[in-house]
Amino acid sequence: MKLLTMAACAGLTLNTAAAQEMSYGQAEYLNSCAVCHGIGGKGDGPLRDLLAKRPADLTHLSQHNGGTFPYSRVFATIDGRYAITSHGNREMPVWGRQFLEDDAKTYGPSGGEVVTTERIHNLAGYIATLQH
Ligand code: HEC
Repeated sequence: MKLLTMAACAGLTLNTAAAQEMSYGQAEYLNSCAVCHGIGGKGDGPLRDLLAKRPADLTHLSQHNGGTFPYSRVFATIDGRYAITSHGNREMPVWGRQFLEDDAKTYGPSGGEVVTTERIHNLAGYIATLQH
């Protein structure tokens, strides 16, 4: 019974998120990302000068990838839990871990994972709309 309720709740969240995909991704972006990457995604957020590494300009990712938005790379970079960094330390929070901490409290470990994944999809989808 408990499992069923949990699944139903996760389903509800997903449907709501899917119905408002753009506004949800945008809201999440403005909440968690704009401080570093800037409201328009150009890497000019107010925290940028406090970082050792400049936040990436998120508006030219397609252009630097032969015209195709590098969706899976963006997804993996945001999530961060499975990303292999080639050099240096990551300045950006590991969002997959951070989101899951909250989402698991509400939806349990597996439901939380589903919701966290959906949040990252919404973010990657929103960044795709910022491409110039
Ligand atoms: C504390 C500042 C900070 C915050 C907050 C932040 N980022 Fe970043 N981000 C960076 C920095 C710095 C880089 C450059 C890579 C690194 O960390 O070394 C980066 C890189 C990226 C990249 C890689 C771009 C590429 O070239 O492939 C993506 C995608 C990205 N961020 C998305 C996000 C999203 C989505 C959020 C919000 C959930 C976010 N960032 C929040 C600092 C931040």
